[in-house]
Amino acid sequence: MKAVILISGNGSNLHSIIENADSIDLQISCVISNNKNAFGLKRAESSKIQTYIVEPELFNSKEAFDKELISIIDPHQAELIVLAGYMRILTPLFISQYFGKILNIHPSLLPKFPGINTHQRAIDASEKIHGASVHFVTEELDGGPIISQELVSIEAEDTAKTLSEKVLKKEHVIYPQVIHWYTQRRLNLIDDKTATLDGKII
Ligand code: GRF
Repeated sequence: MKAVILISGNGSNLHSIIENADSIDLQISCVISNNKNAFGLKRAESSKIQTYIVEPELFNSKEAFDKELISIIDPHQAELIVLAGYMRILTPLFISQYFGKILNIHPSLLPKFPGINTHQRAIDASEKIHGASVHFVTEELDGGPIISQELVSIEAEDTAKTLSEKVLKKEHVIYPQVIHWYTQRRLNLIDDKTATLDGKII
């Protein structure tokens, strides 16, 4: 299955998806970044994957920016859009264009801690368990149906940095796994609140 991957930064999730692409039946058509300095672009280039940079400063609205993304994505005829550390909120225009075809990974146990700084917020809230979630993308920020989660424990000595490292290790396992379910056509988004795996609501 063809996929387009959107990134903004380091791209360690992109790396794990590239490494697993063959075994999860994924063909990465291209990688798009809104940040020209994203290290993930280098990772894509060294794997001979086509890259695009779309710089937000060049657009006078979020819709105009997302229309540019759509004009890049559509010719690739991808069936899946993977957000891998993409740090920009997508417009309803974009989300409705690809409804049911966008996956995101988020570094918290959603619905806890949507948004940013999740690791510090989990520590500040004295959470004992933290983790990562893969979910379908809908218009609600980090609010689409959760497909799968992985847990880590928060120890007294953990900082946002150590926690982020622990969570990322889990992310690198869970994301290719969920993408594989998608490429096997086992996952479906029914509506904003409902998704199914093998026909059963999750
Ligand atoms: C990950 O923690 C991901 O969950 C979040 O952004 C981070 C991206 O890391 N959405 P990387 O760029 O994949 O290394």
